[in-house]
Amino acid sequence: MSPLPTTAPGARTTDFRFRCIACGDERETASQDFRCAHCGDLLEITYPLWKNFSRDIAQLKSLWRERKLSQSPIDLSGVWRFRDLLPALANDDQAITLREGNTPLYELPQCARITGVPRLLAKHQGLNPTGSFKDAGMTVAATFARLAGFRWVACASTGNTSASMAAYAARGGLRSLVLVPEGQISWSKLSQALDYGAVTCQLRTDFDGCLRLLQELVRRAPVYQLNSINPFRLEGQKTLALELLEQLDWSPPDHIIVPGGNLGNSSAIGKALLEMRDLGLISRLPKLSVIQAAGANALLRTLRETAGKSLISVQAETRATAIRIGNPASWKKAVHVLEATGGACEQVTEIEIAQAKAEIGAEGIGCEPASAVTLAGLKKLVKQEFVKREESVVLVLTGNLLKDPDFTMDFHRGDLFKGAPGENASAALDQLRRPPIILDATLDAVIRTLEQAEKS
Ligand code: F0G
Repeated sequence: MSPLPTTAPGARTTDFRFRCIACGDERETASQDFRCAHCGDLLEITYPLWKNFSRDIAQLKSLWRERKLSQSPIDLSGVWRFRDLLPALANDDQAITLREGNTPLYELPQCARITGVPRLLAKHQGLNPTGSFKDAGMTVAATFARLAGFRWVACASTGNTSASMAAYAARGGLRSLVLVPEGQISWSKLSQALDYGAVTCQLRTDFDGCLRLLQELVRRAPVYQLNSINPFRLEGQKTLALELLEQLDWSPPDHIIVPGGNLGNSSAIGKALLEMRDLGLISRLPKLSVIQAAGANALLRTLRETAGKSLISVQAETRATAIRIGNPASWKKAVHVLEATGGACEQVTEIEIAQAKAEIGAEGIGCEPASAVTLAGLKKLVKQEFVKREESVVLVLTGNLLKDPDFTMDFHRGDLFKGAPGENASAALDQLRRPPIILDATLDAVIRTLEQAEKS
């Protein structure tokens, strides 16, 4: 297996290292599978020079603000704008960017009333160029794939990673190979990969099977793997937290709540929070909590049954297909950031997910099902008094409403739980349903409908 040079043309060598999260082994290069050469565990990127970090923090914050006024592509990226805390590029034009990041922080007044938490905000990562948070990591990892001289990039995916990878590969002149579980990802996501020109394989297995195969593939073929095992992805995804804190004028919220699937995103946000605290960008840590679908609750079980010591894999099943993952790769990193920030892990049912998704939709924002676990989880954390009503909370909405129209249509038509165990309980969701109404094309029919809607 060929080592991945960080000494590739254009990448500076002294700037960062790969460190094993288990044995601490530190190197300048990583192998193609991004596993520790010593013990086989995951790697993270560290910055030895930060031990003597001498940048003036106030100046750094104003530099990031000033870059928003620049018209250069690297400054217009909400990821590379924070490049002082990312692996360095020799030249700005090496970055493959689609102007990712720069996502809005919305107030959620109706959800605030529902949960009884008035200071409730949503960071909407679904408004990234390909419609999910994956773009923030992909711009960095695809850039380093090209710098390392690779022609092919590849990933296993529940849909969003593949859409994002295919787009960045196309922009960067790379070929891309997508491995997705057949019949288990939404058409919207699959169609993105096709349009962006990926070679797309629907494998007769689940996501975990796709990821296993990918890891074998990168040991045998010259392809660069772009799953979140790749630590460059997580460096890019850190910027979600940087941008969020900037939007809050560097005053940390009490809680940040994210969905958990393969657990790369929670690990990245947690790493960013710890780095920000250590560098003096923030004075205290928000609690970072992870919410899983009850049918894909590997992290929850790992924490409850082994105190986070060994992974309990599950056979994943949920209509929130983005997080239909039973064997999350970054579980150790996630356990670490939950412990370090004092966050919680909860699980939510399919009905709770559907209800929360409709409630976020009714705010005029919307998100995909996997993102809605955050609101459903918040309701539980409030009941348990882990989140106090006077505290401030940010939900990370990871994917766009348009990513999974089948789920949304099935919900509004009342088909989502047909024949499923939760069918009766789902009647409680009726008042959130807005099924399409088919009418004769007459003024009378439309006015009657309007009058009926006014009464309801
Ligand atoms: N939300 C959405 C919309 C996702 O697509 C994913 C993961 C997650 C949450 C969970 O994030 O894996 O970092 O814990 N999607 C991956 C994919 C696995 O292939 O698109 P995570």
